[in-house]
Amino acid sequence: MENGFENPIYITRPLLPDLHKINERLGKIWETGILTNMGGQHRELEGKLCEYLGCENITLFNNGTIALMAGLKSLDIKGEVITSPFTFPATIQALEWNGLKPVFCDIDPVSMTIDAEKIEGLINENTSAILGVHVFDNICDVKRIDGISKKYNLKVVYDAAHSFGSIHNGVPIWEYGDLSMFSFHATKLFNTIEGGCIISKNSDITDRLDMMKSFGRNSDVRVVDWGINGKLNEVQAAMGIEVLKLVGLEKEKRIKVSETYNSMLSDVEGIRIVTNADMNKSCQYLVIEIDEDRFGKSRDMVNETLNSGNVFPRKYFHPLCSDAEWYRMDYSKNELNHARVAAESVLALPFYGSLSSEDVEKICRIILNC
Ligand SMILES: Cc1ncc(COP(=O)(O)O)c(C=O)c1O
Repeated sequence: MENGFENPIYITRPLLPDLHKINERLGKIWETGILTNMGGQHRELEGKLCEYLGCENITLFNNGTIALMAGLKSLDIKGEVITSPFTFPATIQALEWNGLKPVFCDIDPVSMTIDAEKIEGLINENTSAILGVHVFDNICDVKRIDGISKKYNLKVVYDAAHSFGSIHNGVPIWEYGDLSMFSFHATKLFNTIEGGCIISKNSDITDRLDMMKSFGRNSDVRVVDWGINGKLNEVQAAMGIEVLKLVGLEKEKRIKVSETYNSMLSDVEGIRIVTNADMNKSCQYLVIEIDEDRFGKSRDMVNETLNSGNVFPRKYFHPLCSDAEWYRMDYSKNELNHARVAAESVLALPFYGSLSSEDVEKICRIILNC
């Protein structure tokens, strides 16, 4: 089938460890009878992740959304938070569950992250924080955001769901802002099936989050703080320990896959590759932007043609969060022109280490001939 694939090609394939290794770990969990509540697997994963990410403090969670909700709560922020509409709904939902009002700021058209130049114009006496999203692992303008936060005394939180293990300006990405959230969802480079974490340089925040994720109880099991059940269980942790061993090699393979995409698409009029893959990046997505006027076909046409060839990319992030029925009435008053264009023109293509270069070339040919 020159115009398609016999078996479906999805946007990603999760990293799956050797089943025997998982079984061995399950055997240990069964022996101890400890299935959750920060047991041996959980502690081992915490240690391995601190080593991998170069941090001293980490709080693991049952998913990235709960992690972000708790992270925001741990900073005691109130009122309005300036954020990007070009993100996954979870970013905005974490604010809403905290009773915080999202104030949408337009994005930079190249990086597709929050446009730092436009942040100051949205600050008022109710603003308490900036929530940036390192979308597709394109890093926010962290230096400028840092300057703004100091000038106006604002907290800075990063939704780094796409940026596991990224190094920016020679330092780990979690070093920026008050805290960062990484997602360990099955679609992410590193996964615990579902899971996530918060990393902060401030160990008081980590200590507080450790309590908050376990019903706000201290070591005497007295409730002393805001609480939720945000615990990562032992089976998730066991999965994470084994998946982490595979991340380095997977990144190397994804870099090769991205080189093939680059060689086929980077010089095509009307197509821009929005992401780059190297060992300092998370290598999580391969995203293109299609300019309909110059390419001659819209993103939606390209998507439909790929779908009919049994290829299923994703229109990340469409529709724009600020256009969702739920938020439209209250929060969509600002100009969001670049975000709107991005939502209509971006396509995340299949991207995983076991995708062969022949298959990548075929996907690209379908795009080019559409
Ligand atoms: C930018 C962003 N933020 C937050 C999340 C939520 O993370 P989780 O699925 O781990 O709850 C996701 C996606 O999964 C995401 O893409």
